[in-house]
Amino acid sequence: MLEEKPLISTLRGKLSEVPPIWLMRQAGRYLPEYRALRANAKSFLDFCYTPQLAAEVTLQPIRRFQFDAAILFSDILVVPDALGQAVSFETGSGPKLDPLQTAEDIDRLGPFNIEKLAPVFETIDRVKTALPAPVALIGFCGAPWTVASYMIAGHGTPDQSPARLFAFQHPQAFEKLIDRLIEASISYLSRQIDAGVEVVQIFDSWAGVLPHQEFQKWSAGPISRIINALKAQRPEIPIIAFVRGADTQLPDLARTLQADAYGLDTALDPNWAVAHTPSTTVLQGNLDPLALVAGGEALSKEIDAITRAFLGRPHIFNLGHGILQQTPIEHVEALIARVRRGKISS
Ligand code: CP3
Repeated sequence: MLEEKPLISTLRGKLSEVPPIWLMRQAGRYLPEYRALRANAKSFLDFCYTPQLAAEVTLQPIRRFQFDAAILFSDILVVPDALGQAVSFETGSGPKLDPLQTAEDIDRLGPFNIEKLAPVFETIDRVKTALPAPVALIGFCGAPWTVASYMIAGHGTPDQSPARLFAFQHPQAFEKLIDRLIEASISYLSRQIDAGVEVVQIFDSWAGVLPHQEFQKWSAGPISRIINALKAQRPEIPIIAFVRGADTQLPDLARTLQADAYGLDTALDPNWAVAHTPSTTVLQGNLDPLALVAGGEALSKEIDAITRAFLGRPHIFNLGHGILQQTPIEHVEALIARVRRGKISS
């Protein structure tokens, strides 16, 4: 029998001597080889929809570093694109969408045209044939709340106030949007699984701004529906929920969601998370991306504190949010070497 990949075995709750490691947004602009390929692409979405390029970018961090997982190169905003909302990415200013401003705007969204995302599934197929045996392939989507926050505002915002206001002013229309995103996310992730991803992660990057009731309604509830539907179809595929800013609501999430692991963001004390979740809960995280930029003593200290906090607990080493563009490559190498210290002999 083939040996289980380290990431999968940790997601199944097995303790290991050294944790598997991958980094959120590990395919991206901190890599010179990414910037070189990106410079030739017409637009960021074209880049995501060209399987040959997207597969290459997915593999770039795997060629350079000994990560335990590759994450599919795409973006959470391909879902609004497939719902007929125009999406573009402007260099330096992030995503731009035609904002949804009224209840009628939500009714005008098209059916979820999953065929538009066929290049993403082809990318998965290409990556699978090129991936080294121990490396797992992670697929992903944005959680409905985070994706909706971009769809309503039309761009990134510091506090997601346009979507929060819309949800208070037009609760039924907002619920309709969230329901559309739940359905789309289920189909999208299940097609990613059919194409060959072995793990999925749901990113709720902006959950932390929601008051408790709204957090339940727009973040936890929709994520739970996506997970339940996937578990009914493909129970063997592990799911990681990254609910950024879940804070004191984490224990409740760990109790109520059927996820296989929970991603901790930078701000959460890992000792607290370990103490307030069952000993079987698999946790992922949560190095500050800025510690990785800083490197040196500061980085070593943070790595050791995280390693200590998760001793005796199934743990996936990761950042608490995406890697930053200014991160030096050597710091990523130093991170991997230190996390793997026990194992590294040559
Ligand atoms: O993790 C990976 O390496 C795989 C690819 C990936 C991208 N985006 C590529 C990308 C993943 C998993 C994402 C997720 C994503 N996208 C999230 C959730 C995770 C998080 O960081 O909170 C969000 C909120 C987005 C939306 C998004 N996409 C924004 C706000 C931006 C612009 C800001 C930025 O980071 O550049 C993007 C563009 C984007 N997505 C880039 C990449 C590599 C940069 C585009 C470029 O090359 O110019």
